[in-house]
Amino acid sequence: MSDDTPKVLISEDQIQTRVLELAGQISADYKDADDLVMVGVLKGSFIFLADLSRRLSIPRTIEFIAVSSYGNGSLASGAVRLVMDVRGNLDGKHVLIVEDIVDTGHTLKYLIGMMKSHRPASVKTAALVRKAESAQVDVTIDYLGFDIGDEWVVGYGLDYAEQNRTLPYIGVIKPTDS
Ligand code: IMP
Ligand code: MG
Repeated sequence: MSDDTPKVLISEDQIQTRVLELAGQISADYKDADDLVMVGVLKGSFIFLADLSRRLSIPRTIEFIAVSSYGNGSLASGAVRLVMDVRGNLDGKHVLIVEDIVDTGHTLKYLIGMMKSHRPASVKTAALVRKAESAQVDVTIDYLGFDIGDEWVVGYGLDYAEQNRTLPYIGVIKPTDS
């Protein structure tokens, strides 16, 4: 019998503790802003966004955006395509982009530019995971969960070819295309 269960890299407990800490920081930083809009990047951020947003103690609304960068595998192309824009009006609002993972940084950089075109009051970024050694462009992550090495991770929203998104922890797999 083959065991292809992803190996635990960041446990469910570690994630929950960190998400609570980030929510505390965000709640403090935006305590005087009554118009925080959390913009989740589909699909990977859906679990992080759900947990993070429910732990805030400040008013917030939720939007989603969808981009496509990698096709169905793990090879970075650097090209980012907008698949779905936000529906709500971001004019004059405080936008917090919520990403699952920052690898080369191309996606987040593109998203920051996209959000700025909506004329918000501010744009900040949250990401659960960053591959510190993989950065190709300089992009600020205001609220970061964890730094990891250059490995492919799944779970807590992250997938490999749509598999393993709903694992409660972040695990490592070996992609078949690298
Ligand atoms: P970047 O543009 O290279 O920073 O890539 C960011 C996007 O690639 C993320 O939003 C993910 O959708 C995807 N991605 C990068 N690394 C991983 C990984 O290890 N697991 C799952 N998705 C990943
Ligand atoms: Mg993503």
